[in-house]
Amino acid sequence: MTPFTVKPLTEHTGAEISGFDFTRPLDDEGRGALQRIFAERHVLVMRDQKFAPDQFKAAAQLLGELHPHDNKERHIAGHPDVDYVSNQHFVDGKRLIPGETFHTDHSNHPRPPKATTLFAVELPTMGGDTQYVNMHDAYDDLPEEMKRKIGGLEAIHVYLSKYSPRALASLTEESRRALPEPAIHPLVRTHPENGRKALFLNPVRMESIVGMEDRAALELIAALMRHAIQRKYEYRHRWKLGDWVIWDNRSVMHQANPDYDMNERRLLYRLMLRGEQPA
Ligand SMILES: [Fe+2]
Repeated sequence: MTPFTVKPLTEHTGAEISGFDFTRPLDDEGRGALQRIFAERHVLVMRDQKFAPDQFKAAAQLLGELHPHDNKERHIAGHPDVDYVSNQHFVDGKRLIPGETFHTDHSNHPRPPKATTLFAVELPTMGGDTQYVNMHDAYDDLPEEMKRKIGGLEAIHVYLSKYSPRALASLTEESRRALPEPAIHPLVRTHPENGRKALFLNPVRMESIVGMEDRAALELIAALMRHAIQRKYEYRHRWKLGDWVIWDNRSVMHQANPDYDMNERRLLYRLMLRGEQPA
């Protein structure tokens, strides 16, 4: 196996991996090691990659199978299955920054993507970091009484909650028709690989909690969010060109930051990997 190094980025979340050549096929041992580190560190950072869209796709698939994106119109020209994030999108004359509040991706699906990955193609001179918070640690630190309260609760996740703190890109009729039925997921899920429990929250898509009045549900979600997004649970990624970052949606929430000069372009290729039904 190729020798590689793993540098933790905080005590709890994130690791920088170097030594692999991701433009060549990885042997089973290397792939297994990568999967193990991913389950332990939740966010992996590989610097100085030079991916064409197909190479990015191949690298992402080292950790799973692709999960198609809901917004079928948005993709890299000539690569219908490679999505992107960009600051050059406008909705009703207002610039839309995808991911601009803490969330987990595509939780409106019965089997939400286990992972999302980005490759930095164009970046602003400064700013535009992505923040991640560790939902295993956030869960572990909850008072026992709260753990008991939320242990059996399930939330309904829709494409865009009427209570969402922000808008999402509008969908064409075709993409809208392809959306799944609203999904029902536990507030606390267990990671199938590392065995740890985690809070599973997404104010953008959670519209209600089964058996609760909306107001009480929103208050509970807000309290859990305030707890989960504390700085002590965070790894903040400062992007450099060529960064390949992959994160585990079962272990972390993430958010984008629109704190940079919008005259500068920011473009990252984006893919998701298939997950399982949260339990
Ligand atoms: Fe996201």
